[in-house]
Amino acid sequence: MTKPEMSNFLNDCRVFGLFGNPVGHSLSPLMHNAAYREMRFNALYVPFCVRNLEEAVRGIGAMSLGGVSITIPFKSAVVRYLDDVEESVHRIGAANTIVNNQGRLKGYNTDWIGFVRDLKEFMPVKGKTFAVLGAGGAARAVIFGILAEGGNIVVLNRTIRKGQALADEFGCSFSPPSEIAKLSADCFINTTPVGMYPNIEDAPLEPMDLKKFAHVVDIVYNPVKTKLLKDAEAAGCRIRSGIGMFVYQAAEQIRLWAGMEPPLDSMKRVVLERLEKYERD
Ligand code: ATR
Repeated sequence: MTKPEMSNFLNDCRVFGLFGNPVGHSLSPLMHNAAYREMRFNALYVPFCVRNLEEAVRGIGAMSLGGVSITIPFKSAVVRYLDDVEESVHRIGAANTIVNNQGRLKGYNTDWIGFVRDLKEFMPVKGKTFAVLGAGGAARAVIFGILAEGGNIVVLNRTIRKGQALADEFGCSFSPPSEIAKLSADCFINTTPVGMYPNIEDAPLEPMDLKKFAHVVDIVYNPVKTKLLKDAEAAGCRIRSGIGMFVYQAAEQIRLWAGMEPPLDSMKRVVLERLEKYERD
C-alpha cells in the first residue's frame, strides 16, 4: 500500500471487536481479519480484554465501533445493556453479537444459526432425536436451533436440577447421564467444555456408551478431533467437530455487519491451519 492509500484506508476504516476475558487465545481476530481482507471490506477486528462490561458496551457507541462479538464470560450478562435484542436472544438468554446501528445497540445470537447450518450439512434434523449434554449457554443455543428445525431433544447434565430445569423450559425430556445406557437417540452432542485444550485427554462419555449413536457432534473445536470424537470414530459413529459452527457463527456476524457474503472456505482454512500448528508445536 502507498502512503496516501494507507491514509485513506485508515480514515475510512470501520472497527469491530471481540469482548471477552480472556481473549488472548481467540481465533476470531485471525478469522475475521482474513475474511475482511479477502472481501475488501475496509475494517479491522480487534480483541478487547474487558474488565468492566457495562462501560465497555457504552464504549461501542462512544467510539463508533461498528459492532462486537461477545464471548466467555459475557454472553448472558451483556443482554441487559442492549437497546434491543432479537427473539432468539430472549429464548437462549445470551447474545454473541452486537450491531451498532447509529448509536442503538442491537443484540443477536448467531451461535444457534452457525450450529444449525453445520448440523444440517452433517445429518437430517427434522424428526431426529438428539441427546444434548450440558445445560449452559452453548446447550441453550444448540437446543433452540434443533427445536427450530423440528428435531427432538433429550437433555443430559451432570447437575440434575439444572438439566431438568432447562429441559422443562424448552419442553423436552431429561435423562441423568448415569442412565445413558437406557437412552435412544440418533445423535449425541457435547456442549460442555470437557475435552477442550488443554484438557485434551478428557471425554464426557465412556467409549462403550457411544456405540449406540449413529452420529456424534462435539462443539469443541480445539483440538479439532477431541477424545470424544476419536472414541466415537473408533466405535463406528459418524463424527463432526465444532469448527463448522465456529466458522458459520462468525460468517453470520459478518453478514450482519458488512452486508456481504463472507469467504467461508478461507475462514475455515485459516482456523484449521492455526489449530494444526498448535497441535504440532
Ligand atoms: P457455556 O455457557 O459455555 O455453555 P456454562 O454455562 O459454564 O458454559 O455451562 C457449562 C456446562 O458444561 C454446564 O452444563 C456444566 O455442567 P453443570 O451444570 O453440572 O455445571 C457442564 N460441564 C462443565 N464441566 C463439566 C464436566 N467436567 N463434566 C460434566 N459436565 C461439565
